[in-house]
Amino acid sequence: MEKQTNGPDFPVHDLEYLSGFGNSFESEAIAGALPRGQNNPLICPLGLYSEQISGSSFTSPRKLNLRSWLYRIKPSVTHEPFKPRVPAHGKLVTEFDKSNSTATPTQLRWKPADIPDSQTDFVDGLYTVCGAGSSFLRHGYAIHMYAANKSMENCAFCNADGDFLIVPQQGRLWITTECGRLQVSPGEVTILPQGFRFAVNLPDGPSRGYVAEIFGTHFQLPDLGPIGANGLAAPRDFLVPTAWFEEESRPRYTIVQKFGGELFAAKQEFSPFNVVAWHGNYVPFKYGLSKFCPYNTVLVDHGDPSINTVLTAPTDKPGVALLDFVIFPPRWLVAEHTFRPPYYHRNCMSEFMGLIHGGYEAKADGFLPGGASLHSCMTPHGPDTKTYEATIARGNEAGPHRITDTMAFMFESCLMPRVCPWALESHSMDHDYYTCWIGLKSHFVREPVDIRSEDVQDGLIGIGAGANRG
Ligand SMILES: [Fe+2]
Repeated sequence: MEKQTNGPDFPVHDLEYLSGFGNSFESEAIAGALPRGQNNPLICPLGLYSEQISGSSFTSPRKLNLRSWLYRIKPSVTHEPFKPRVPAHGKLVTEFDKSNSTATPTQLRWKPADIPDSQTDFVDGLYTVCGAGSSFLRHGYAIHMYAANKSMENCAFCNADGDFLIVPQQGRLWITTECGRLQVSPGEVTILPQGFRFAVNLPDGPSRGYVAEIFGTHFQLPDLGPIGANGLAAPRDFLVPTAWFEEESRPRYTIVQKFGGELFAAKQEFSPFNVVAWHGNYVPFKYGLSKFCPYNTVLVDHGDPSINTVLTAPTDKPGVALLDFVIFPPRWLVAEHTFRPPYYHRNCMSEFMGLIHGGYEAKADGFLPGGASLHSCMTPHGPDTKTYEATIARGNEAGPHRITDTMAFMFESCLMPRVCPWALESHSMDHDYYTCWIGLKSHFVREPVDIRSEDVQDGLIGIGAGANRG
């Protein structure tokens, strides 16, 4: 498909970003545009309007309080009434119940989604796969995917329901926000917080990816505990756009607002990207996953995947996440006398996985870039038969091994997801997924084998009916 470059020019090589996570930032597209000493003076510099966007209640504790002040040519309120968007979008869900989604404990896997032949932009290419809770009640999440081929034209999207964490898998995203512009390439992720208006251009044409949406909370960096003061995602690697605005008239510009999972549209005569300066700590941002500093076992056993948490959206229960974003990046495996792939597992949390590129260590085949899997609460999962047998065959002599060409990720939640009908009925559904485990054989022997731990460590004894698989 021909490359799409419609929309505002996007100087990808000249984009400037601010650095940090949770900072109080400030940015001016014109020097002197930010008021000094107060937030909403009677007359703002350059004749701008002041407007606050609140990402937390006014009275949230200071460490959780998020808000920014935007200084714009015209305020956001300057538009005609919202009306249900025509056509309606039938595949977005933010309140999950029996009327719109299905509970199933079955292991689910999807092949990569087809990118539509018809002209489809980011908003219309977005569809909910699964989720739990309710955006109305400010508790829950939705997992969406998108497949699109066309830039948004003369419209901006605004999500009143929650924060988007977007994980592009194919095709760059050129995202214009009220705080400025972001280029987000596969291998990077972006957070677009609740309420910000944004437009997505697709410079590479056919594009695909994953979106986690969280209701009623925001992403934080995980605590590092005994790891110490450094490691995992470093605050300075999070990048925030710098102020950019357009002032020309944009006749019949449309604001598309997602509110309770439904789309509404309002017309206005100007671009919403008319913020000349802003300051605050409620901002869109992006992060390059290659910057992640992974920690791992250096002696025995496969560590719990929480060690690779990039961002976490907490609940009120300590250590229990509404949604964790966890990655499985390239890294060294060095554990001794250890089954190195992920262990077989049943989890009180629910695990949705995607693959950005390469392969995934627990699946020899079938889990493809652009595909997805869902292992819900207490549903068993783990390495497929090929992976298990190949791992055992390597025995204890396996030396240090670097996993390369991979970037898998997981959205993990304490809430049990319901699955949308179009996801269950999709022709991308891998109905044979269960067969990847069916071949797992019994290696049980009733006669105890006298195994000295030293022999196992030396690779003299493998598991199984007396066979030395080393
Ligand atoms: Fe698991």
